[in-house]
Amino acid sequence: MALLDEIKAKAAALKKTIVLCEGEDRRVVEAAARITKEGIAKIVLIGNEEECKKVAPDVDLAGITLIDPLTSDKTAEYANILYEARKAKGMTEEQAAQQAKDRTMFGALMLKAGDVDGYVSGACHSTANTLRPGLQVVKTAPGIKTVSSCFIMIAPEAHKYNPDGVAVFADCAINIEPDAQQLADIAISSAKTAKTLAGIEPRVAMLSFSTKGSGNDDKFFKSVPKMQEATRLAKEMAPDLALDGEFQFDAAVAPEVGQLKAPGSAVAGHANVFVFPNINAGNIGYKIAQRFGGYMAIGPVCQGFAKPLNDLSRGCSVEDIVATVAVTALQAE
Ligand SMILES: CC(C)(COP(=O)(O)OP(=O)(O)OC[C@H]1O[C@@H](n2cnc3c(N)ncnc32)[C@H](O)[C@@H]1OP(=O)(O)O)[C@@H](O)C(=O)NCCC(=O)NCCS
Repeated sequence: MALLDEIKAKAAALKKTIVLCEGEDRRVVEAAARITKEGIAKIVLIGNEEECKKVAPDVDLAGITLIDPLTSDKTAEYANILYEARKAKGMTEEQAAQQAKDRTMFGALMLKAGDVDGYVSGACHSTANTLRPGLQVVKTAPGIKTVSSCFIMIAPEAHKYNPDGVAVFADCAINIEPDAQQLADIAISSAKTAKTLAGIEPRVAMLSFSTKGSGNDDKFFKSVPKMQEATRLAKEMAPDLALDGEFQFDAAVAPEVGQLKAPGSAVAGHANVFVFPNINAGNIGYKIAQRFGGYMAIGPVCQGFAKPLNDLSRGCSVEDIVATVAVTALQAE
């Protein structure tokens, strides 16, 4: 896949250091070795040699830095960072000392401390357990209050409604029922991801079943006014960004429909970044494109964190882990 190869090549040139938190998982150990051998990133693997050798006896650990929170001389320093970040939430020094030994928390604290450039975990932990340490200590990027996710959708071939051959869909995996401000944050973060990772100039469509007031759901979820308000807020946050809405999907991608339903809009008919009103629409939408349209989906890619953290699926392959590390390295640029 050309875009993925490009992402890996760009990552290799950056020489970022990424922490993988799950040295107890064979796929992670294997991916760490492959990433190191291919020079995609420098890897810090949380675990110890005995355990890695047990799950992956045939894997060469040369060049990988192994750190065990139970024996590391950094654990006390990280516990202090955790205590400072969470004391207002009622965390005690004893609790911080204990929680800093947790591998995913230790990884997030390494990132917070600046000892690594990015964090990847989730091969054997749930999304909530993978992202919570990041939400608690790394927090969001300046100007953004919402961590979200997107999929980079790669077309089997360029299409008249997707001439770039690539699109960004958000949020399909984290925020369940985002409000207008959260949707505006998702839009801004997705535009950034489109530039950094997908390599496209973003044209952002705020999606709905309504185009510019053609429909309303006042008696139900009020999702149309929500998307209208999200569009207004996002335009206020990023006045120079090509962003508009609310659009039905056809008005967003088909120039003839866009011109008819949203005359004068610079985005209608030409969108390549799509913000869905909620996780149901987003998750269903990306799977339709994947299964019926033959698109390849890279992600979910997390966005909006102050520093890059990404969550793997528990069904991930070694190749998925390698790709996620490359994506994370590029986000750290
Ligand atoms: C993201 C998610 C994992 C967070 O869950 P959680 O750990 O239960 O989150 P909490 O509500 O306990 O919040 C923990 C902290 O993170 C913050 N937070 C939670 N979600 C956030 C978001 N999207 N952006 C920014 N901060 C967020 C909270 O404000 C809280 O901060 P505080 O403790 O400093 O006050 C949750 O939204 C989720 O489960 N989403 C759906 C995931 C899913 O099932 N996806 C399907 C996979 S395809």
